[in-house]
Amino acid sequence: MAIFKKAKKSDDNLSIKDIVLPEHIGIIMDGNGRWAKKRGLPRTAGHTAGAQTFRRIARYCSDIGIKYLTVYAFSTENWKRPKEEVEAIMRLFKDYMIEAITDFQDDSIVVKFIGDRTVFPPDMLELIEKNEQDSKDRDGMVLNIAMNYGGRDELVNAVKKIALDVKDGKLDVNTIDAQLISDSIYTAGQPDPDLIIRPSGEYRTSNFLLWQSAYAEYCIMDVLWPDFKSEDLDKALIEFAKRNRRFGGV
Ligand code: FPP
Repeated sequence: MAIFKKAKKSDDNLSIKDIVLPEHIGIIMDGNGRWAKKRGLPRTAGHTAGAQTFRRIARYCSDIGIKYLTVYAFSTENWKRPKEEVEAIMRLFKDYMIEAITDFQDDSIVVKFIGDRTVFPPDMLELIEKNEQDSKDRDGMVLNIAMNYGGRDELVNAVKKIALDVKDGKLDVNTIDAQLISDSIYTAGQPDPDLIIRPSGEYRTSNFLLWQSAYAEYCIMDVLWPDFKSEDLDKALIEFAKRNRRFGGV
């Protein structure tokens, strides 16, 4: 776990150079629909703009030295949206995956996908696996893209896996602990998020990193995701640095 140099609450002139950055940031990329509505555009235009913001912010996080970034792109509940909206998000996701393979070959970012990938068609699955395979030995930021991800779904799968191991005699029920659960979910081997940013002003977790966010600091920001700039990320990082994290201690 990273040690945080706590910034003084009174210090209004901090820059990100003055603070210790969180190791792992999660972002709920919210507000695409409202952004489009405000402009009289279809919701899909909001997602296209949101995908551009995602590219910029992921690059910025990598440039400033963030070690892990997890973005919430599509939840297990988002299938309830209109068909054309789901298709548009899937297309944007696919475009990004193709781009990541073909254009980012000299990149240092490690790309991972978290979520239930079994529902994706074979071409998508192939792209997901190729991205993970091609980037796995890189030494830069780990970018987790949460696609068809749900925190509850992730825990249900972990429970099933552990229950099977107990049933098959591979695991003693008394050895089940929090570490085993952390090791049985998509983010196994990664540190928990320190900071979760939710643009668009909503105060909800929306099933994002339920287990992992036990001690995450939340930063709710009044900006819609397509409008989110690197300056907004800096603001969240500075706000985070002023928080007093106690992890249940005093
Ligand atoms: C939430 O905003 C956003 C989504 C459900 C989709 C997010 C997808 C992208 C940013 C683009 C695709 C991703 C990649 C990785 C290229 P909302 O639609 O719920 O907004 P609203 O609350 O204003 O309606």
